[in-house]
Amino acid sequence: MDLSSLPREKWVGDDYLVQLGGFWFLPQFVKKNKRVINNYNPLPNDVILVTFPKSGTTWLKSLLYSILNRSSRHKLAVEHPHDLVPFLEAQVFAEADEPPALAAPLDGPRLFATHLPYQLLTKTLDSSQCKVIYLTRNPKDLLVSFWHFVNKWNMEKPNQSWPLDEATDKFCDGVIPCGPYYDHVLGYRELSLKRPKNVMFVNFEGMLEDPHGYVKKLGDFLECPFEEEEEVDDIVKNCSFEMLSSYDVNKSKESTTWFPTPYNSFFRKGKVGDYKNYLSNESVQRIDTLTKERFHSLGFMYGI
Ligand code: A3P
Repeated sequence: MDLSSLPREKWVGDDYLVQLGGFWFLPQFVKKNKRVINNYNPLPNDVILVTFPKSGTTWLKSLLYSILNRSSRHKLAVEHPHDLVPFLEAQVFAEADEPPALAAPLDGPRLFATHLPYQLLTKTLDSSQCKVIYLTRNPKDLLVSFWHFVNKWNMEKPNQSWPLDEATDKFCDGVIPCGPYYDHVLGYRELSLKRPKNVMFVNFEGMLEDPHGYVKKLGDFLECPFEEEEEVDDIVKNCSFEMLSSYDVNKSKESTTWFPTPYNSFFRKGKVGDYKNYLSNESVQRIDTLTKERFHSLGFMYGI
């Protein structure tokens, strides 16, 4: 595919993003995204976790893996959640149109993750009975998490540090990988209204407040309900920030094979409201106004 034909925008330092179907992506992901869009045919019992980057993907991957693979959930102590639950675009379809990783397992559903927006997967998802779990996170914490993550992956390029004001401008303009954020969330909201039985919305803040309740709801949604409360408690504890971030595999400074960031960059604080330590009042107001315009005006009272 000829990238030069796609709109592009300057992003961090000398890096730029390219636009595909109204969304911005790192150039190295365009071909991989197209492979997913053109070749992924979900099985009716596939489970797909969809998130905007920095919403808490790593955490929910761990929970979903544990819920669906109860007897092997101890694997989280030695394998990174991103290796146990691969991203369709970055891992499964990274190299081939028909990857071997798509083979159906003998037992249970396949579990994948993606950051691709519904607007680019409309045909794929409208024609399938697969289950979609969409994770949201309030935009201010998400932005701060994104900003930290980008600065971590650019650590070796000292001239490429990303000032927070610039990150805020880019976020509000929608020019951020997989952005615009608001269009991403609203796309999946549309899908959830169309197919409420197959789509479950989960939010980071709610999960932190009541992880036990969420794990049970996820078990019901995935048609593998829990019989014992202790098992739910055990999964919650094993996937807590404290536990996951204590494992050597998740503390590793080694870079993942599919993205130039260390394994440990997916664990930072895992809290709600950290934006208060970073964003100016002006930035908070700007994002809140945008959230009201984009979410609240549609009756989706989320994000502030
Ligand atoms: P912070 O940067 O705010 O700490 P993603 O997995 O989508 O890349 O999101 C990363 C964010 O999820 C980071 O947020 C990270 O610390 C947080 N996170 C990772 N594991 C978590 C867990 N077990 N519980 C709560 N938050 C977690």
